[in-house]
Amino acid sequence: MKENKSISIQYSSYAHMDQLPEKEQMLLKKAIELSDDAYAPYSEFNVGASILLKNGNIVAGSNQENAAYPSGLCAERVALFAASANYRDEEMLTLAIYAASETTAQKQISPCGSCRQVMVEYEVKQNKNIKVLLMNSSKEVWEFDSCRDLLPLAFDFTALKKQD
Ligand code: THU
Repeated sequence: MKENKSISIQYSSYAHMDQLPEKEQMLLKKAIELSDDAYAPYSEFNVGASILLKNGNIVAGSNQENAAYPSGLCAERVALFAASANYRDEEMLTLAIYAASETTAQKQISPCGSCRQVMVEYEVKQNKNIKVLLMNSSKEVWEFDSCRDLLPLAFDFTALKKQD
């Protein structure tokens, strides 16, 4: 029997970052600054990512490219891996991502599939949602309460292990 199913995701859209709480505006401003630190000589597409930890620290990320193209890494994963490496058990509250959007079709930065998978894994690990804020050069913000909203049906190795 065939059943048609669908999955919907939720997010909020703000016309401008100044409509968000001050703490999140500060995190978004940091992401803008961090995009200047990108090393992206090949794509010339600069991305900044900032993560607010529960202890108040902010962890920085920007995309880092390499002449051997697959060796480079997106801003999101640079920040996520740095947060986990430097603050192993500190909860990640919010991940803010910024990229100038003129070059993206949907006019909003949207993390790649690999970064979404990594985001979901840290969310599962800490058993608390990580909020995601996406911002473009018009300072329009999309807010996702959970990384899962960006990756429905994520591969969840921890769930597989529990079945053993
Ligand atoms: N990139 C990111 O850093 N984050 C994204 O969400 C999308 C893509 C980087 C990877 C590469 O350095 C450049 O943008 C072009 O794909």
